[in-house]
Amino acid sequence: MQLINGIKERRSIRKYKSDKVSKETIEKIIDAARYAPSWKNSQTARYYVICDEKVKADIAENGTLNFSKNKNNINSAPVLVVLSTVDRISGYNPDLTPTTDKGEHWQSFDAGIACEAFCLAAYEYGLGTLIMGIYDEKKVADIINLPENEKVSALIALGYPDESPKAPKRKDIEEIAKFI
Ligand SMILES: Cc1cc2nc3c(=O)[nH]c(=O)nc-3n(C[C@H](O)[C@H](O)[C@H](O)COP(=O)(O)O)c2cc1C
Repeated sequence: MQLINGIKERRSIRKYKSDKVSKETIEKIIDAARYAPSWKNSQTARYYVICDEKVKADIAENGTLNFSKNKNNINSAPVLVVLSTVDRISGYNPDLTPTTDKGEHWQSFDAGIACEAFCLAAYEYGLGTLIMGIYDEKKVADIINLPENEKVSALIALGYPDESPKAPKRKDIEEIAKFI
């Protein structure tokens, strides 16, 4: 994959084929995602890979804040990844005081970088992904027995795409960039 092409061509996929995704392929994706940069190389992103239909259906039914679109998105995908991050490391000093005035901000920042690396790596292996931010943090954490010191940072649906959506329109460069 040409990197620029991958960045531009990856799309959010909301309709998946029922084909299973092998553990080997998922491990290759995580192998690539772990090279994402992180605060002081702290690597706080964790990947809970849910292939079990019952657990996945439980999250779809009870962990999506009644947002039916995400319920359908999760049910459509053969795999759901709960991306979590370990608390109080990214952005913090070893004595647990915040290094900057942005507090927990860097934890989510690292999660976002890891998430995009995961999605791009999945794209390279012919897989589609959908990042979901609308979920019930507590319910999802309870369902997968997330350790107390981790937060759910995003849900990622994963599977072979059964649609080829067009890219939603992007803002013009003049609107988003200022050269100073
Ligand atoms: C932080 C974040 C949260 C998102 N949450 C959802 C979501 O809950 N449900 C959904 O269908 N799409 C969600 N999306 C996908 C966006 O709608 C999508 O990335 C955007 O429309 C651009 O489309 P593209 O990914 O195909 O380029 C989310 C994306 C991000 C980055």
